[in-house]
Amino acid sequence: MRAIAVLASGGDAPGMNACVRAVTRAALERDAVVWGVEDGFSGLVNQRIEQLTSRGVAGILQHGGCILGAGRCEPFFEARAREQSVTFLRERGVEGLVVIGGDGSLKGAQEVHKLGFPVVTVPGTIDNDMPGTDRSIGAYTAVDVAMEAIDRLRDTASAHHRAMIVEVMGRHSGYIAVMSGVASGAEMILTPERPIDLQGVFQEMAATELRGKRHFIIVLSEGAPWSGFELAQLINEADNPYEARYTTLGYVQRGGSPAALDRILATRMGVAAVDALWEGKSGVLVAWQQSHIVILPADQLSPRADPWSEQLDRAHEITTT
Ligand code: F6P
Repeated sequence: MRAIAVLASGGDAPGMNACVRAVTRAALERDAVVWGVEDGFSGLVNQRIEQLTSRGVAGILQHGGCILGAGRCEPFFEARAREQSVTFLRERGVEGLVVIGGDGSLKGAQEVHKLGFPVVTVPGTIDNDMPGTDRSIGAYTAVDVAMEAIDRLRDTASAHHRAMIVEVMGRHSGYIAVMSGVASGAEMILTPERPIDLQGVFQEMAATELRGKRHFIIVLSEGAPWSGFELAQLINEADNPYEARYTTLGYVQRGGSPAALDRILATRMGVAAVDALWEGKSGVLVAWQQSHIVILPADQLSPRADPWSEQLDRAHEITTT
């Protein structure tokens, strides 16, 4: 390939920059020209690309966000916009595309692939909910950020004998909630995958009080049946041993310097994406399975059914005894 392009799409995730750097340098090593597409697929629609150099991607490995920008792109749902994008890439001599992003980005990438343009997707989302891969770039860091916040919130909850609800990100995925909850010893973890009724929350709270705990930490995934605000109200309106407060962590989980494991994952995946393009692969996802990089056909991925809570049930049980 003489030239490739790289873009980051969807919500940003810590480690996307590390991946852009890896893709750029791996392609430059093969004497290809590398174009960075601005702001996800909208940079293709609006024809905004810039040439990336080895020095241009220096010093970005350790930074959150994405130097290219990221984002979702409504116009790309239109077939005409996609065709124009591919024509634009071809006119600029681009012969392959690397897309870094989540589920929606993978769908966009597959549409490009269907137009006969070589494209490889690298999983980048803090939600870690992509099919086919055990890990996506950014998820480790988001869990660390949430864990640190929960540790701090436990201090103040304990001092005041409170229930502290910590709402973490994950619209359709309980990954961050489960992992940060286990890592911080939370008393309760509520996820979209495992809905629980309010009486169950109250009973657990009463049992925790009987065990003599001064706090009751609930890690609540944003996709769970209630928001942090709603759940705190419900707890406070009923007769419960702890008074509830809530904190929504929000976008703080998406920013900041990536953890070492995200930098390494992003670097390895970026290199693997370039290798895959040079091997003539397209319509594939770079995935992480059992500590190895694998390249999977993206149209044959089956959705992951709540892979984390089951594994972690026992680990969580020891907190609640
Ligand atoms: O990046 C994934 C995610 O953080 C989800 O957990 C969340 O619901 C969503 O992005 C919100 O992002 P935005 O407001 O940028 O669409």
